[in-house]
Amino acid sequence: MERVVHNFNSGPSVLPKEVFEEASRAILDFNNTGLSILEIGHRTSLFESVMNEAIELTKELMHLDADHEVLFLHGGATTQFMQVPMNLLNENEVAAYTETGTWANKAIKEAKIFGHVEVVGSAKDTNYTTIPKDISVTPTAAYLHITTNETIAGTQWHVLPYDCGVPLVADMSSDILSRVLDFNKFDIIYAGAQKNMGAAGVNIVVVNKNILGKVKRTIPTILDYRNHIKEHSMLNTPPVFAVYVAMLTLRWLKNKGGVAAIEKINNKKTDLFYNTLESLPLFTGTVAKEDRSKMNAVFVLKDPALEKEFGELCKSEGMIGVKGHRSVGGFRVSMYNALTLESVIAITDLMKEFAKRKG
Ligand SMILES: Cc1ncc(COP(=O)(O)O)c(C=O)c1O
Repeated sequence: MERVVHNFNSGPSVLPKEVFEEASRAILDFNNTGLSILEIGHRTSLFESVMNEAIELTKELMHLDADHEVLFLHGGATTQFMQVPMNLLNENEVAAYTETGTWANKAIKEAKIFGHVEVVGSAKDTNYTTIPKDISVTPTAAYLHITTNETIAGTQWHVLPYDCGVPLVADMSSDILSRVLDFNKFDIIYAGAQKNMGAAGVNIVVVNKNILGKVKRTIPTILDYRNHIKEHSMLNTPPVFAVYVAMLTLRWLKNKGGVAAIEKINNKKTDLFYNTLESLPLFTGTVAKEDRSKMNAVFVLKDPALEKEFGELCKSEGMIGVKGHRSVGGFRVSMYNALTLESVIAITDLMKEFAKRKG
């Protein structure tokens, strides 16, 4: 009998079963061509239609206007930590960054290579358990960078700084397409695909083309967004299979009813999870209630001596990937788009059962 597992991994993470099925078929025979998706040329009409559909679906799901271009690039979100300032920040200029945790700090470190960084909001004092409020950005800043969801700390921006007065850049790696946002208010959005959008190996970049071409430095060909726009994300060989899986995941999301529909499902999942967490005195969430993430719930046990036992129980019951990040400890339950409500019911039932036993 097939073992039931519930995958709460933080990324790469759970994807829809339909996507796995379709992708496996395409490895053996892509669209009845007798060829595997892994052996077709990226400049064939076969693959061009995959890339086009991925781009068009992203535009449709995000309701993007004509100024916003969609790119599928290599290098993961980590490459964007450096590619953003390389394309937007002159050496003598200042970029505003918010410091919300591990990922924001990595972005800050890279930006400092290219220009000056002003931290305009920090959660360091709360050990990254909050999101900074009332940030004020100097109007001359090249842009404001935020990390909309801190995957390790378990915090998320719920009130977005749309009116910051300068171009807005967001690392949305761990909450892209999970909730309705005004995506056109952002000038750059980037995300590794491996959480809500597909398999590892590709990242999506949404860019407002009007903000490009303003830096003085020479940008290497492969790192200049304008070249990728011109070449339709085909400047060099794209990660063909990862783009294909992203396209299938976008199709799945569209069939589900789009971002508003998935947000409703995501809210059901997080309401159930956090209500359970709050009802059980044995467990404590580590994040301020108004700032907690709907994608990554981080919590500890009040009695740390019980953590090993709870961790082992999760493992024996097929709950995968709930161990907290080594820098935070405790537990982390990731509830990305493809995680089913059934999985959240399974883990909350287990938490209740454990609490009853420890009575
Ligand atoms: C918020 C955030 N930004 C950036 C990254 C880095 O992504 P990649 O591994 O694709 O470079 C991660 C990875 O988990 C992340 O969660």
